[in-house]
Amino acid sequence: MDDRNLWRSRASALVEATLTRPRIGHSREVARLASELCDRFHGDEEKGYIGGMAHDLARELDVAEILLLAETDGQPVRDWEKDSPMLLHGRAAAAILLKHTGYSDPETLQAIRDHVTGRGSMGMISKIVFAADFLEPTRELVSPEFRRRTIALSLDEMVLAVLERKMHFVRQARQALSPDSLSLHEELAAHA
Ligand SMILES: [Fe+2]
Ligand SMILES: [Fe+2]
Repeated sequence: MDDRNLWRSRASALVEATLTRPRIGHSREVARLASELCDRFHGDEEKGYIGGMAHDLARELDVAEILLLAETDGQPVRDWEKDSPMLLHGRAAAAILLKHTGYSDPETLQAIRDHVTGRGSMGMISKIVFAADFLEPTRELVSPEFRRRTIALSLDEMVLAVLERKMHFVRQARQALSPDSLSLHEELAAHA
């Protein structure tokens, strides 16, 4: 097995050993769509695949475990993350992937951390995993029409459309918007 397949297989095996069936299916679809988008936008397909596969590794843990894992990346836990610790499931997932497989590519780990809320100044792999998480075809809250229209856009337009839809859901649920989502929105809307 060459190195490429080795890391993909390790990430897939970890996801299969960690998550429940529906979420394994979601993770596979995000990996598939993220690698397709990497191919289209000239990103590293392996990073998209592994980022997509591993992004929700911590999604089924309880908040106390998520907090502990997230803190291992050395970054501070900010006030809004303390208020809604599920926002940290990306940071916790990156920590799990690193700890259990040794996969340490910084861009991929950052994409996994960024997938929950987005963030200003995201790199290409972060943008791709963020969009693929929302647009993969098994997500029921996304209509086929929205998916088709959004996937056809440029990468920044795609991320903006996904972000606006996610922000709409957050507002509908009367939850607070993360400052990271707001700074991504400001950045993308300025160039739209
Ligand atoms: Fe997630
Ligand atoms: Fe997800």
